Amino acid sequence: MVNEVKIKKRIKEVVELINHHNNRYYNMDCPEITDFEYDTLIKELEYLEANFPQFVVPNSPLHRLGGESREAFSRVAHLLPMMSLSNSYSLKELEEFDKRVKNELSKDVSVAQEIEYFCELKIDGLAISLIYERGELIRAVTRGDGSFGEDVTNNIRTIMDIPLMIEYEKNVELRGEIYLEKRQLDRINLEREKQNLAKFSNTRNAAAGTIRQLDPKIVAKRNLRFFSYFVAEPSKHNLKTQEEALSKIHSLGVKTNPYVKKCKSMQEVMEYITLWQTRKEELDYEIDGVVVKVNSFRFQELLRSTSKSPRWAIAYKYMAQEVKTSIKEVVFQVGRQGSITPVAFFDPVQVSGALVSKATLHNIDFIKEKNIGIGDEVVIKRAGEVIPEVVMVAHKPENSQPIIYPEVCPICGSKLVQEEGLVAIVCPNLACPGRLKAQLLHVVSRDVLYIEGLGEKLIGQLCDNGIVTSWLDIFSLSPQSFQGLERVGEKSISNILQEVQKAKSLPLEKVIYALGIKFVGEKTAQILAENIVTIEDLIAKQVNEYLSIEGVGEKTAQAIFDFFQNDDNRQLVIRLKELGFTMLNKTKKVSDKLVGNTFVITGTMHAHSREELEKIIGDNGGKVTGSVSKKTSFLVLGDDPGSKYTKAQALGVKVISEQELLKLVKSDQ
Ligand code: IVH
Repeated sequence: MVNEVKIKKRIKEVVELINHHNNRYYNMDCPEITDFEYDTLIKELEYLEANFPQFVVPNSPLHRLGGESREAFSRVAHLLPMMSLSNSYSLKELEEFDKRVKNELSKDVSVAQEIEYFCELKIDGLAISLIYERGELIRAVTRGDGSFGEDVTNNIRTIMDIPLMIEYEKNVELRGEIYLEKRQLDRINLEREKQNLAKFSNTRNAAAGTIRQLDPKIVAKRNLRFFSYFVAEPSKHNLKTQEEALSKIHSLGVKTNPYVKKCKSMQEVMEYITLWQTRKEELDYEIDGVVVKVNSFRFQELLRSTSKSPRWAIAYKYMAQEVKTSIKEVVFQVGRQGSITPVAFFDPVQVSGALVSKATLHNIDFIKEKNIGIGDEVVIKRAGEVIPEVVMVAHKPENSQPIIYPEVCPICGSKLVQEEGLVAIVCPNLACPGRLKAQLLHVVSRDVLYIEGLGEKLIGQLCDNGIVTSWLDIFSLSPQSFQGLERVGEKSISNILQEVQKAKSLPLEKVIYALGIKFVGEKTAQILAENIVTIEDLIAKQVNEYLSIEGVGEKTAQAIFDFFQNDDNRQLVIRLKELGFTMLNKTKKVSDKLVGNTFVITGTMHAHSREELEKIIGDNGGKVTGSVSKKTSFLVLGDDPGSKYTKAQALGVKVISEQELLKLVKSDQ
């Protein structure tokens, strides 16, 4: 008979050893054992866990290495909205903030009372909410739209800065920033270059792209990091100030940023801001400013929030760095709607954390206004993730050459036209290969259908060889389509084809964006999706009906109408359906019937998947959370429920079936 005590002890030992070596490897960059020795420990733990599942410890490092791939992320309601901060760029704006704070507080408390500000670095990453229940990390959700985010728990579990277990009995929600170190971005981009994948333009994009990876094993390899800066409902944890909150988070073993400062005046705040403006280059991660928070939670409560941001905090953003370089060449590129854009090329320069070698010159008016010529020394800047821009000409050398607009399309040779009332000059040829390539690049880009692996070079080859003649052709690609093309291996072909299949289940708003309707960008596509049920509803409208949608202006309404008047475009929608696009409408809010109610779902459902039920609840104004508490309004019960059912019964939470939930939504009360 096996000695169970010994087994239990050995599991604990191996877990501790692996955790120790993970820390040496991931955090200290200083491993003490070889990969082989490490793998042997992992194998031993895998064996022990498989044979003695009763002794598996909740903080097992095996669960960090990434579980199974997931189809998609479920949408989860935040317990408290995740707000953003209002921005400021000058001392004057900070002083105004200080005045507002003091004014507001003077209504309730004596102004003589010193107001303390707590300054933190503004980490340039993405916000995440972590829910710990009885010490265990049970859920991690992205900010999303502030009310609903995506459940990325499996991916978050791979981040070494985030403990899977904390020694804390109370349930607690911590928030903070996921980020990527600068050196990791360099490493990842080098890798991507080798694999012919588009490089990430900055650490924030790379971190955001990583967290939405479907395969946690890939996330684990990217070495994401985390700093927490927020405890939800601090009074529940007896916390009185932001300073105390950060100490508490730190004492729980969750990473916090060390470079904070408590300030008694705006003068001191400004000193902190100035110090970090220069010192930020020393950090291994990007910061895009400083966050100034009223330290006392009582004061924060008194100050309240607007619908978007708290009134007790402000972000001071560092202006984008400006760098000088000389324009070597100007190339005219064809956009997805045929517009010709001049792009300036120069020797690569480092700007705000990214290597930049080109900048858009927008149009003729922009070139004239700034008097830009080839050979000129120009100042360029990159604000956030925006494409680099030429700010001004710094020096015009004697041999500066004027930029001359072409008369014909540089790709297909068609005579260019200037549309009435618009600055843009366009290539009118709908079949222009330049236009097709730009359209394809748009469709596969991260914001639209996000088909990884189909980069500029491959798209170029697919178009040039006539394999793809419309963006829909991407969805009929087969392994044979890639035969004879340069630099594409079997593995990447199979990945691309998988990605292509996945894109078919993207929500309606993404497909509308992909259609390439003039003036319909990401936001408008979202607005349109919110106001229809299926894609057919979009086709069937008259101009005035589009116009009646809030956020859709005259030009856009006309453009949508014109788009669907074209037979080819109607055919396009039919083809999408034939190709298996589901075009589920995820953004539509159907009713307010469930507003104020929180739901927990447990067990196997019949008529709908769990994700569909979450959507139905969300669409009707309800919230879905992961665990049962006194605040839960209903537990939706399926077959073989877990411990949530027992807990709901103990707390007297109302239990309903899937059918009863659907009735709630359907009822006319
Ligand atoms: S406090 C209510 N502190 O900046 C808002 N945010 O626009 C609570 N960020 O969404 C945020 N570093 O993603 C806070 N030390 C810090 C931060 C920080 C980065 C991000 C966060 C937030 C955005 C504000």
